[in-house]
Amino acid sequence: MDHPTQVLLLKSLLTMIEQRQTSMAEAIYLNPVESYTSHDQLQREQRHLFDSLPLMMGLGSQLPCPGDYLTDDSSGVPVLVVRDDGGSLNAFINVCRHRGARLLDGAGNIAGAMICPYHGWAYGLDGRLQRLNPPGSFEGLSCTERNLTRLSVVEQQGLIWVHPTPGGQINAAELLGPLASEIGDFGFEHYSHYETRRLRRRFNWKVVIDTFLENWHFSTLHRQTVLPIFIPGISHFEGCGTHLRLIMPRRSIVELFDQPEEHWDLLRHSAIIYVLFPNTLLVWQGDHLEVWRVFPAGPGRVDQCLIDVSLHVPAAPASAKEKAYWDKNMTLLMETVDGEDFRLARQLQKGYASSAQRHLTFGKNEPALHHFHRAIQTSINEQ
Ligand code: FES
Ligand SMILES: [Fe+2]
Repeated sequence: MDHPTQVLLLKSLLTMIEQRQTSMAEAIYLNPVESYTSHDQLQREQRHLFDSLPLMMGLGSQLPCPGDYLTDDSSGVPVLVVRDDGGSLNAFINVCRHRGARLLDGAGNIAGAMICPYHGWAYGLDGRLQRLNPPGSFEGLSCTERNLTRLSVVEQQGLIWVHPTPGGQINAAELLGPLASEIGDFGFEHYSHYETRRLRRRFNWKVVIDTFLENWHFSTLHRQTVLPIFIPGISHFEGCGTHLRLIMPRRSIVELFDQPEEHWDLLRHSAIIYVLFPNTLLVWQGDHLEVWRVFPAGPGRVDQCLIDVSLHVPAAPASAKEKAYWDKNMTLLMETVDGEDFRLARQLQKGYASSAQRHLTFGKNEPALHHFHRAIQTSINEQ
């Protein structure tokens, strides 16, 4: 994010702090409880979102060298992303074209060729089948007919995007829309992956996103964890197409009242939350990045989700002290979000299923929730 934009946003935030205001929607928003409980809605989400939109897979810096790969099954499609010798990323369905074995597991580096664990067919980093084994057994077939099934992949502003359906195209210019240049300014392509944790939790996948979309619950739910760090109840919201940006000021931001604008630094004095539609959160945490990716846990699992949370830091820790610092950040993150938000979310899901009410009420002070759920409804209701 460039400095003039930071100053503009800071002026707005400092005014909000002086006047005890926050970004407001024009009216309250009634969100149907069915959005979290309906199997029909889950099917439409799978079809219109998770099968049809480019999905964020991680940071390009997780795969710096030729042969570096990652695999990901979260969307329901087994995806394999690998960096080739020319430095470009290729993405494939992670399925051998002989009899369908899973080609690679986890993440790592493969030198030269990807070899199927079942009968040993070998594929180049470009997905080409190198030879048909054993000789003579596949007469009439040529290697080119059994290359890996390719998926569209784009590396942009340090983020990897894959279209989960063969033949699906990614329009790179529209991926991040108006957020492209400000996200690019962070330089995430130079970041170092610190840690990823995978969670499976018993609530609808959208609850994870909802958790991050307002900060007035800090005063009640997070008194012992992040309330000492953040000013609760004040945030700056902006919708950016289907994406959104929400800025939550740290308490340290009040130092800026006494400083000249040229020294103002929004990034140090706030948390900046980007929802990259539909299922990714980038959470800028002052000096590092959290990435949250959320998926329904499978067909029919309207009340369960899979969550990937990753910490990315500006440089790999060079000392035990630096490592301890990032570990402390990870611990606080898990204590707050998993220990407090997600613990409560399990009860939320039970409440949704209880017939207590047909709608949740999003206040005017929760505009990010309005924006996210409107974008979901618009997308899943398209023909
Ligand atoms: S399934 Fe891969 S070589 Fe047979
Ligand atoms: Fe929270």
